[in-house]
Amino acid sequence: MTIIIIFSTLLFAAIAAADDAVYMSKLMKALTPTPSGWSNNTHFCKWNGVVCRQSSNRVNSITLPSSSLTGTLPSDLNTLTKLTSIDLHNNSLTGPIPSLSNLNALQTVLFGHNNFTSIPDNCFSGITPLKTLNLSNNLNLVHWLFPTDLSLSTSLQTLDLQATNIIGTLPSDMFDWFPNLETLILSHNNFTGSLPLSLGRSSIMGIQVISSMKFLSQAFLTCPIQFTCLISNFDHNNILSGVVPPSLMALSSLKNVSLDNNLLQGSITLFRKGVSST
Ligand SMILES: *[C@@H]1O[C@H](CO)[C@@H](O)[C@H](O)[C@H]1NC(C)=O
Ligand SMILES: *[C@@H]1O[C@H](CO)[C@@H](O)[C@H](O)[C@H]1NC(C)=O
Ligand SMILES: *[C@@H]1O[C@H](CO)[C@@H](O)[C@H](O)[C@H]1NC(C)=O
Ligand SMILES: *[C@@H]1O[C@H](CO)[C@@H](O)[C@H](O)[C@H]1NC(C)=O
Ligand SMILES: *[C@@H]1O[C@H](CO)[C@@H](O)[C@H](O)[C@H]1NC(C)=O
Repeated sequence: MTIIIIFSTLLFAAIAAADDAVYMSKLMKALTPTPSGWSNNTHFCKWNGVVCRQSSNRVNSITLPSSSLTGTLPSDLNTLTKLTSIDLHNNSLTGPIPSLSNLNALQTVLFGHNNFTSIPDNCFSGITPLKTLNLSNNLNLVHWLFPTDLSLSTSLQTLDLQATNIIGTLPSDMFDWFPNLETLILSHNNFTGSLPLSLGRSSIMGIQVISSMKFLSQAFLTCPIQFTCLISNFDHNNILSGVVPPSLMALSSLKNVSLDNNLLQGSITLFRKGVSST
């Protein structure tokens, strides 16, 4: 009996390890040049830039930035179910970004400055621990929409989708999805429509957002009562949000937002934390 249990435990461990070995070997074949220190003769847990979980053969992180890598990542990346961090920024990777869905340990994704061409549906669904998603400067991506499948990634702190060919409108409740958001960079895309209503419920200071909105010919900033700044645009006489109770501002720790170089228009009432009236 004991032997059977030990045997099945070993078998299970072997199968689990085999899963990551299969992907890592595909990944090695897919990347050109082969990253230094990667070889068929060395266990993948010893490859440069690869860290495995202690006392297991499961990949914990892959870190290969600025390595002049070309190639297309094998699509079944989400078989690496213990992955917490992947950093491949500043390479020349092409083809689709592999789906990250259901990687439920994943916290950090740095894919910026590559040449990825598309993003699969539901790429970001079910990644609850995600803290940082950075796909910035992937100018060869086919037009896509803001990824609403991120809505369950409530731990998100940094979202950088600058220059990734996104079109369409920003979901109006998106700032409610990310109560821990600190940095949001969506500039150099072609978002249309107005600023999300939920922005008014976050603690962001609005100047940077507003200053370069394309159709905003006149912007007025007034702070009539503590915490409330009104930025209005007299060309489009549509103030979008009503007064939101200051207590709601505690929801957000947002510090930096950049939405410049889009096609946003209209105006919105923004609420600024800690601004006193004068
Ligand atoms: C690893 O082995 C496979 C065959 O199993 C071969 O196709 C591949 O070129 C080898 N890779 C390296 C980097 O030696
Ligand atoms: C990007 O990678 C290249 C090497 O491929 C390196 O020379 C360059 O400094 C890197 N740029 C940044 C901003 O890290
Ligand atoms: C991406 O591809 C374009 C050509 O479409 C090329 O000019 C550019 O250098 C490539 N960028 C990277 C980071 O590989
Ligand atoms: C996103 O990654 C790029 C490198 O690809 C870096 O230059 C940029 O600062 C990162 N964005 C944030 C908000 O950290
Ligand atoms: C955004 O739209 C302008 C024209 O309205 C176009 O020239 C530009 O290529 C578009 N950019 C993207 C990323 O779609």
